[in-house]
Amino acid sequence: MALETPGHGPNGGKRAQETLSNLLQETRRFDPPADLAAAANVTESAYDEAKRDQLAFWDRAAERLSWSKRWDTTLSWNPPFAKWFVGGQLNVAYNCVDRHVEAGNGDKVAYHWEGEPEGDSRTITYADLQREVSKAANALIELGVRKGDRVAIYLPMIPELPVSMLACARIGAVHSVVFGGFSASALKSRIDDADAKVVITADGGFRRNAPSALKPTVDEAVAECPGVERVVVVRRTAQDVAWTDKDVWWHDLVERQSDQHKPEPHDAEDPLYILYTSGTTGKPKGILHTGGGYLTQTAWTHHAVFDLKTESDIYWCTADIGWVTGHSYIVYGPLANGATSVIYEGTPDTPHRGRFWEIVQKYKISILYTAPTAIRTFMKWGDDIPAKFDMSSLRVLGSVGEPINPEAYVWYREHIGGSRCPVVDTWWQTETGAIMISPLPGVTAAKPGAAMRPLPGITADVVDDQGNSVPDGGGGFLVVRDPWPAMLRTIWGDDQRYIDTYWSRFPGMYFPGDGAKRDEDGDLWLLGRVDDVMLVSGHNISTTEVESALVSHPKVAEAAVVGATDPVTGQAIVSFVILRGNVAESEDIAAELRGHVAKTLGPIAKPRQILVVPELPKTRSGKIMRRLLRDVAENRSLGDVTTLTDSSVMNLISEKLPTAK
Ligand code: WT7
Repeated sequence: MALETPGHGPNGGKRAQETLSNLLQETRRFDPPADLAAAANVTESAYDEAKRDQLAFWDRAAERLSWSKRWDTTLSWNPPFAKWFVGGQLNVAYNCVDRHVEAGNGDKVAYHWEGEPEGDSRTITYADLQREVSKAANALIELGVRKGDRVAIYLPMIPELPVSMLACARIGAVHSVVFGGFSASALKSRIDDADAKVVITADGGFRRNAPSALKPTVDEAVAECPGVERVVVVRRTAQDVAWTDKDVWWHDLVERQSDQHKPEPHDAEDPLYILYTSGTTGKPKGILHTGGGYLTQTAWTHHAVFDLKTESDIYWCTADIGWVTGHSYIVYGPLANGATSVIYEGTPDTPHRGRFWEIVQKYKISILYTAPTAIRTFMKWGDDIPAKFDMSSLRVLGSVGEPINPEAYVWYREHIGGSRCPVVDTWWQTETGAIMISPLPGVTAAKPGAAMRPLPGITADVVDDQGNSVPDGGGGFLVVRDPWPAMLRTIWGDDQRYIDTYWSRFPGMYFPGDGAKRDEDGDLWLLGRVDDVMLVSGHNISTTEVESALVSHPKVAEAAVVGATDPVTGQAIVSFVILRGNVAESEDIAAELRGHVAKTLGPIAKPRQILVVPELPKTRSGKIMRRLLRDVAENRSLGDVTTLTDSSVMNLISEKLPTAK
């Protein structure tokens, strides 16, 4: 085990075995509930079927969709360029909307939309959605948008957002949704990179009880994008807006359109959308997804991982549609499956900290999909808040976005799931398009903090730095060996960057950039980005493991850990912690927590410093920005803070600095 291994330099040969060493001993297991297992959509046999014939497995998943023309070839693989369901034709919007209406389910609710202002809600059936999407498709055509054209969408969480995406999909235009929290320069670079000719936006949205403007940001961006011909503006907040001759109101343009539109078939490999994901450096990468494979895998995984019962479940994914989680698991997967979903416009603490649980109670949500960062926030706010609501409708809980600390997992299970709901920790990325590694709620005896096994049809592995598979009990780098249907096809306009970023570190394998370990049972634990690994006195220690050890202390709600340069140990562990709501900061808390980490993980993992802070710097997608904390820990001036949700957080943290010495 790593603790006894003498030090090695960053390039030392031993590093591979030691990487992300298995420090944390987690022995809890949660069996699937017997009733859920007995009626589960997917059982253990799916793994065997996929192992016997992976392509036949994906053929069957694709058959869950409606195709205008069946494919000739399941997979054409010219590494690293994949084409799935070659020769097949389908219309993604038809699959998500019309076919459910044709099957007699037009009155079924597609979305319960809950605005942030209380009482502001809408119910949208599949028949409503068909009319809305048809009108929007006709409107885009009137504006001159044709198949293959790019449309940028910069909207708050309102029904017009999925409607716009589906309208694009319907006519074969390629949408590029830009999260509503991004700045004008971020929007401009995304519009430019994709060469979008139309932008769909709104005057603003509601956030924290107040209208928050979007249109001025669009005006600023579009002023520098001569390629944009028209800007369609939804009226949501009725704020005053400046007007240019490119602008047209959504209600003027869309409302007068016919609600009939015939969906044309598109090739399975025609582009569906571009979604930008930030690289660690350089300009954002436009991840390109295509129709057939993407819809196949998002729909199948949504059916399997959440055990979705179309007739009875009410499903809520709390992500923003501006991220891939919302694309795949608010829009495409759930609609392809004919699910009833909830969309919520606002923040979890408006007008009070029980808003999420009030929504669960109001709509009788049965499947909830959220992120560790949200769960840790709820832990911090206190157990008494969810306890006030009736959440007995819940039956499956999901987590995505980061490794989930075991304590957060167990808290989620107990305080939200009433100790009866399985928790599925789902690992995937913008690039993978759909869930790749996850427990199945009716099959897996899940371990808190582990994503467990690759889903049927997926071949993930953990390799050392030479690309050799590590034995059980070993750690290293996560890779995916075989192509999968929802995989990115390339980086928009930059095939070489696609090859370099994902397929060059380990030849012949997809490298997502995450560290992982495989435990003695062969189950997978994701350990964060590989750049979040610290090298302390030659030992590789993952920030995730130290964070989980800190969060396992009853006084800690959240923790972020970074490696700071240290003259003695190479790197030293510096921790930033948020205490739970009812805990007062005391003199000896740092010593207590250092001792706790030493006891949990071993003395090597004991943080050099512990700083109690009120907040942590997070990106708008909820990931902790350790880069900024590293700047603090190394007494440097801060790098770029523009992607933070709230940049004043860094002032609060810096104020704590003197005590860190
Ligand atoms: C990165 C991808 C997947 C949709 C939201 C994020 C991390 C995601 C998990 C998980 C451990 C996870 C990885 C991955 N990640 N889910 N269950 N356990 N890590 O999409 O912004 O493209 O980020 O998020 O590091 O590479 P994304």
